[in-house]
Amino acid sequence: MALKSKHLLGLEGVTREEITEILDTAATFKEILQRPIPKVPTLRGKTVVNLFYEDSTRTRISFELAEKRLSADTVNFSASGSSVKKGESLRDTVRNIAAMKIDMVIVRHRSAGVPLFLTKCIDASVINAGDGMHEHPTQALLDMMTLREKYGTLDGLKVAIIGDISHSRVAGSNMRGLKTMGAEVLVCGPQTLMPRDIETFGVGVCHSVDEAIGWADALNVLRIQLERQDAGLFPSLREYHNEYGITRRRLEKAGRDLTVMHPGPINRGVELENDLADSEFSVILDQVTNGVAVRMAVLYLLSGAEEAVS
Ligand code: CP
Repeated sequence: MALKSKHLLGLEGVTREEITEILDTAATFKEILQRPIPKVPTLRGKTVVNLFYEDSTRTRISFELAEKRLSADTVNFSASGSSVKKGESLRDTVRNIAAMKIDMVIVRHRSAGVPLFLTKCIDASVINAGDGMHEHPTQALLDMMTLREKYGTLDGLKVAIIGDISHSRVAGSNMRGLKTMGAEVLVCGPQTLMPRDIETFGVGVCHSVDEAIGWADALNVLRIQLERQDAGLFPSLREYHNEYGITRRRLEKAGRDLTVMHPGPINRGVELENDLADSEFSVILDQVTNGVAVRMAVLYLLSGAEEAVS
């Protein structure tokens, strides 16, 4: 089955069948990644441009590796060091790149809606690698893959998303994807970091992290964007940690198996106690590993290639 759109702009409107297809395909690619030569010719002859207007470590390297594992030709673009610095517009930049005959564009940008805008400028498939506070669909897909590996299904799974829900594209995509897949979702954080229209997502809301821990099977802990403190949305990082930080003591008080996830980069000692990311609760590096397989699956399913593996 192919996906119904040739773009992946977000998980809004992506069906349960399509998400299942992506996760199943990612599981196949994950097996290939264990082989001595972890490479297949699936995207041979296709050219993919990684267009990053904003910093990234995991998403950028993961997409690049996924493209190379699928034998695509890849080109990396960073706004710094490009003619964007001379004032070239986004539309002109991307139309010039497209004129060099490309098949797919991976885009990260600080403004919500840029991936959708690009679909109106060029014919290539566009994949959103994070747009402002809107969506980060491949992050949510790799989060769901990690949860599905551990629990076997997302149906009925209780996932608490903790932290800055309002400014987080990871939260946006996770809420949409998890609800589509039948999970129960609770968001937890200070009122000042909660979207005004949160009820439209069909998720529970709470402001006590102990309550969230007492309810959940898995916690997806969001990065506190340090610039939010300057905006006065919470009193200090220390107070945030005291009220909402995930600590071993809090997890052990729950007295059962709990999974701790984080999209990275982590502020150790703020949203997560210093060594918790490296503890038995954490699947954070599994998330990173699964990111390559999920991105291979998305690239393959949007490419129109005949077979995933020959
Ligand atoms: N999770 C994530 O998007 O990380 P990067 O910003 O490093 O890509």
